[in-house]
Amino acid sequence: MISRIEEAIQKNLCSSSIVDKFPESLRSAIEYSVFPGGARIRPTILMSVAKACDDDIPDITDAAASALEMIHCASLVHDDLPCFDNGDTRRGKPTVHKAYGENTAVLAGDSLIINAFSCLALASRHSHSRVANLTLCLSKFSGFPNGICAGQGWENELNIDLKSYHMSKTGALFIAATQMGAISAGHDPDPWFELGARIGEAFQVADDLIDVLSDDKNSGKSVGQDEKNNRPNAIREFGLEGAKRHLQDILAGAISSIPSCPGEGELAQLVKMQAAKMMEINESKIIV
Ligand code: IPE
Ligand code: IPE
Ligand code: MG
Ligand code: MG
Ligand code: MG
Repeated sequence: MISRIEEAIQKNLCSSSIVDKFPESLRSAIEYSVFPGGARIRPTILMSVAKACDDDIPDITDAAASALEMIHCASLVHDDLPCFDNGDTRRGKPTVHKAYGENTAVLAGDSLIINAFSCLALASRHSHSRVANLTLCLSKFSGFPNGICAGQGWENELNIDLKSYHMSKTGALFIAATQMGAISAGHDPDPWFELGARIGEAFQVADDLIDVLSDDKNSGKSVGQDEKNNRPNAIREFGLEGAKRHLQDILAGAISSIPSCPGEGELAQLVKMQAAKMMEINESKIIV
């Protein structure tokens, strides 16, 4: 599946050009933001749900998975900027603004967000109605009031509601992953909400644990940032053991929330595997 994801992103990243020449450093920064990827967990979930629902128009699934990962990569580029978390390292290399400068990083993130939606629009020749619903879903969980923009906006509030903050900044794209998988295959997205929400909330709790327990080398990114930037996180809210228990509780209901579909069994295996990965947390080190 990873090679299908990589090929799809490569094909869809900057696919329709009307000019022969582009600003080279911006082109390079966009490429640098997306390749090599991280775990590609969101497109993996999206494609797995689509497959579980029969994946009858694979070109739509490929476009949806690419668009979702482009939005995620954009969110990382912007999240690392000095005006957000001021990160030095991401995916084991210097962050985009460290490598290319801040204004190129802003433009790379902006380009990825815009190209994500043109990538979806280009797939409309296969099904207008599915692409319209994919566009609605991706924009809903990227923007305001339900998506990443809202999530990052919570950081400017005096009183931050941790669950809403986590659900918007991270959970939202996981809900998009499960629901866009269903939509790509022509299924109703509503029953897929809970699975995405559970995996997404758990993922951010696990990320909060990584920020405290891991190191830059193992995580591939600057850790200790929540403390440094005074961000609320699961450890501050529940304590270390409490956060681990919370993670377990969220994940406990994930398998049973999988809606009935032809590929239910295989999907349950994937969810189990991802849950086990998130639970691979011990006191001294987390390998991600
Ligand atoms: C990091 O996401 C940002 C969070 C929402 C916690 P990932 O851990 O999925 O990042 P990559 O894509 O694998 O680098
Ligand atoms: C991730 O939150 C939020 C987004 C990228 C939208 P974090 O700020 O905790 O993510 P990391 O730890 O930098 O990957
Ligand atoms: Mg952040
Ligand atoms: Mg960050
Ligand atoms: Mg974090």
